[in-house]
Amino acid sequence: MGAPAQVSPSSTEGRKLLSVLAGEAIWPPPVWLMRQAGRYLPEYREVRATAGGFLDLCYNPALAAEVTLQPIRRYAFDAAILFSDILVVPDALGQAVRFAEGEGPRLDPITDAAGLSRLDLGATDEKFSRVCETVQRLRQDLPSEVTLIGFCGAPWTVATYMVGGQGSSDQAAARTLAYRDRATFTRLIDIVTEASIDYLDRQVRAGADCLQIFDSWAGNLPDGEFDAWVVAPTRRIAAELKRRHPSVPIIGFPRGAGTNAERYVQQTAVEGLGCDTAMPLQQMRALSEATSVAVQGNLDPLLLATGGPALEARARENLEALKGVPFIFNLGHGIIPQTPPDNVARLIDLIRAEGN
Ligand code: CP3
Repeated sequence: MGAPAQVSPSSTEGRKLLSVLAGEAIWPPPVWLMRQAGRYLPEYREVRATAGGFLDLCYNPALAAEVTLQPIRRYAFDAAILFSDILVVPDALGQAVRFAEGEGPRLDPITDAAGLSRLDLGATDEKFSRVCETVQRLRQDLPSEVTLIGFCGAPWTVATYMVGGQGSSDQAAARTLAYRDRATFTRLIDIVTEASIDYLDRQVRAGADCLQIFDSWAGNLPDGEFDAWVVAPTRRIAAELKRRHPSVPIIGFPRGAGTNAERYVQQTAVEGLGCDTAMPLQQMRALSEATSVAVQGNLDPLLLATGGPALEARARENLEALKGVPFIFNLGHGIIPQTPPDNVARLIDLIRAEGN
């Protein structure tokens, strides 16, 4: 009940991101930017001001579709990413998420088995359906050559917010719960994994033609914990989506994974690897050559905010270093709100001029 109707598969021909994720090296490379919809755009701030709370915007298909399309109209990016948030999953499971003005997200922390019992895998339908209505609208409204990316947070990153009740730089609450009460933490990861599989499956059935799994806090774990909480749940999600939708590629973004990135690629079998700002360009290239993964990234968002000759020089270095391997130009993390929109236009011009 409530699952969106299957959208008749539109032709995916001409969607450059999909060709790169199938292993092709395209020149100039396709480009999109994490957080390309957001507060750096005046037209976003205008819609945001009418929407009520941030999650009200995520659950309003007309407005969420509109803000997804804004950066596509301005810059003709090669991909649109569904406008939503990774914290829709805990919110839909019954752990209410609040976004206070000027602060990050706030949740009532889950710290033990009793807290887990507040989560309900049967409760997600209404909220997931609203987000999927946005996806359906987008596939209808987007130019056919633009790839539509659906997404979720990876279970580890989502769990750090569920256990900590807010963002933190060291994820101490989640890491400690995993050591102190492994059974409870495992159960939490399992619940988020199951909800995420259902959520992504619905996004694909609504029209998403590629998926990204954001593991923004993958970087602080000892290797055994990295395998248990980052690799294993992501592998499970990717395998299940692959079984249901063999033609839909997945980009994993294990931010901060460093030398764990190669094992992540091999064991999760993702088609694309989102690379953070700290990953050397030569490591991106070597990873692609060793595993045939498509690499995405990794310009410093602060450099995009700064602009000028430093931005242009580094963007050219990225292009040069990754010519000849399957490569998607992107940032190493999301656009920051202080970014002048003209810097984004300049970057896109520079990348596209490569083809001439
Ligand atoms: O354009 C896009 O990339 C699509 C939309 C998108 C948002 N969040 C919108 C958003 C995506 C893909 C995300 C992912 C997300 N959300 C992540 C993973 C990527 C990353 O940045 O590490 C994480 C950790 C979150 C959780 C989250 N959402 C935080 C910590 C915050 C507060 C920080 C902030 O920037 O304000 C949010 C809020 C949020 N998500 C905003 C947007 C545009 C800003 C809120 C607003 O407009 O009022």
